[in-house]
Amino acid sequence: MKKILITGALGQIGSELTRELRNHYGSTNVVASGRRVKEGHEKLIESGPFEIVDITKPDELAEIVTKHNINTIINLAAILSAVGEKHPEQCWNINMNGLYNILEVAREKNCMVFTPSSIAAFGPTTPPNNTPQDTIQRPTTMYGVTKVAGELLCDYYFSKFGVDTRGVRFPGLISYETLPGGGTTDYAVHIYYDALKNKKYTSFIDKGTNMDMMYMPDAINAIMQLMEADPKKLIHRNAFNVTSMSFDPEMIGNSIRKYIPEFILNYDVDPVRQSIADSWPNSLDDSAAREEWGWKPKYDLDAMTVDMLEKLKIKLGL
Ligand code: NAD
Ligand code: SER
Repeated sequence: MKKILITGALGQIGSELTRELRNHYGSTNVVASGRRVKEGHEKLIESGPFEIVDITKPDELAEIVTKHNINTIINLAAILSAVGEKHPEQCWNINMNGLYNILEVAREKNCMVFTPSSIAAFGPTTPPNNTPQDTIQRPTTMYGVTKVAGELLCDYYFSKFGVDTRGVRFPGLISYETLPGGGTTDYAVHIYYDALKNKKYTSFIDKGTNMDMMYMPDAINAIMQLMEADPKKLIHRNAFNVTSMSFDPEMIGNSIRKYIPEFILNYDVDPVRQSIADSWPNSLDDSAAREEWGWKPKYDLDAMTVDMLEKLKIKLGL
């Protein structure tokens, strides 16, 4: 029986993953946790056990792992790319020291660990098109530095201590339940909200900037599928490239215009987030994930647009 602790559970991924894991493994077997209680998450907090856990505090982590007899940790607590460039020390502290604390408690209490890496683990010298699974990784953001170091640290805990660590390099994730927490790909979420509310959007990422993206239901499936995969088949266990689609702002704008023909897309490019986006790949090769654990996304750009617009209309009461 899995007893799962999710850190950062009130974030963009955690708020949806918690619900899916509770449906799958039973509410009492999935402990959601966050650094603090956040308004708007009452339903999630009341749907099963919830604990306050700051991953930079090893004693808090150990206490909760012991209290709930946890054997699987899904570590979603992190600082994302744009906020990381504003607060690099905080990004290092949470993404690296926090991850170290997670791995240590996992080693001591014999837990499996899932930690997401990102397209941010690549940099300007990485081949940008059909980016290979194993290639140059010299990122130029603090977030990216923590993601590469995190991949290596998880590999180390597996090879040195036998901790069953697993992870994927997520692209930009698009969802309607919880807003993203300060990344470079966030424009691809905000564009849907503004398209429905105002029929126009001003993008901080320039036209012609392609990045990999994925709709949240596929991201949740990726986590659940990888955690259930046969460990003997996992060669790239902590750093699988995964992707569903690659687009630039014009392409997502055109997809929205199929359903909201009057939608207008303007640009006011933010140089910091633009330079981060320019340093990331245009499109990933995810064949290792497909071969080693059967990764196969369901949503392409238009299928995602239809679902996002439908679900957001209900959420926004439009
Ligand atoms: P998010 O910012 O929405 O959520 C992260 C949560 O962690 C927040 O609720 C925050 O309050 C919490 N947190 C921050 N510091 C903490 C601490 N010290 N202790 C406990 N909780 C803390 O992020 P997300 O989008 O859900 O991302 C989760 C993971 O997935 C991160 O590792 C991120 O790098 C990775 N990822 C996300 C995306 C994406 O597009 N969302 C893409 C690639 C990788
Ligand atoms: N969506 C994330 C970000 O933009 C990618 O890791 O930071």
